[in-house]
Amino acid sequence: MTHNEKQLRIAVIGGDGTGPEVTREGLKVLRAVAQVEKFSYETTDYDLGGKRYLATGEILPDSVLEELRQFDAIYLGAVGHPDVAPGILEKGLLLRLRFELDQYINLRPVTLYPGVYCPLKDKSPEDINFVVVRENTEDLYAGGGGFLRKNTPHEVATQEMIATRFGVERCLRYAFELCRKRNDQKMLTLVAKTNVLTYAHDLWWRAFNEVGQKEYPDIKRDYNHVDACCMWFVKNPEYYDTVVTPNMFGDIITDLGAMIQGGMGIAAGGNINPEGVSMFEPIGGSAPKYTGQNKINPLAAICAMSMLLDTVGQTRAAQRIEKAVMATTPKLKSLSAGKMGYTTTEVGDLVAKLAVEG
Ligand code: IPM
Ligand code: MG
Repeated sequence: MTHNEKQLRIAVIGGDGTGPEVTREGLKVLRAVAQVEKFSYETTDYDLGGKRYLATGEILPDSVLEELRQFDAIYLGAVGHPDVAPGILEKGLLLRLRFELDQYINLRPVTLYPGVYCPLKDKSPEDINFVVVRENTEDLYAGGGGFLRKNTPHEVATQEMIATRFGVERCLRYAFELCRKRNDQKMLTLVAKTNVLTYAHDLWWRAFNEVGQKEYPDIKRDYNHVDACCMWFVKNPEYYDTVVTPNMFGDIITDLGAMIQGGMGIAAGGNINPEGVSMFEPIGGSAPKYTGQNKINPLAAICAMSMLLDTVGQTRAAQRIEKAVMATTPKLKSLSAGKMGYTTTEVGDLVAKLAVEG
């Protein structure tokens, strides 16, 4: 590091269940690549999640949120605890971080690595290599809605789908730019439901065509209804290059995407604010039944670390990690917890070693 090079500062939220076990391996790999690529960094641990909530009632204190704004990136393990009612930690911690830090892109690559079992017959790594850009701050996730006459026979519940021209356009521009940068088929597929959601998705459709036509004439605009997209992900995944979609559909189709790339053991994502602090996480949950057993697959968290480094500009380190993961997957018997043929820590050791060898 030269003296005018800024030190990379990463906040680490191991979180619940197996979260801390997988982030530990990601940090092990970070240590290894930072040494060879000669950059320095510091990490700060934040104790957030179900355990803290059960002990103190705190989910995300405002003072912690303010501190998190000061980092270059956040590295998150998992959120979700069997003794905490559904929704409390998800909304209070994960979604609150995404919203408060305005991480308006949820970037989820779908890449089948060598030697990974794919549930689709006759599909290989050449066929499964695309990326989903999920809008991450609006839609049904914005929390609009309410009850009327709650707990009476005449109860009414509404849940509102929010699309703003500003929010949609910034997401579309990110997706068009990414598609251009990937330089693959130069095709951006909008996934929505314009035949039913004739207000919110009409806005998406108009913005998609207007922004695309004016600013990205080199990118082919393509459209799928979300139900059809689920069919094509399974039947013709090779069709896709870059996909852009509203928050709720993005949540659903990226679990399908995760399965065709080998499952939750490998699927990683980034909650990105291109002008602010981004947060990287394995897509899978806290897997309570595997906690503390050294059986969970850390590759998704390791891939999330690679995405983190790419985003903060440590591109070579990020590529080292991705290459090392690609050299590791053929050695594993399975990507599922407890069936890898290696322990969690052994997989981390293997990737760290291969990442250094380059
Ligand atoms: C995801 C998760 C979250 C979401 C949950 C845990 C709130 O499913 O990151 O995809 O719905 O976004
Ligand atoms: Mg999800």
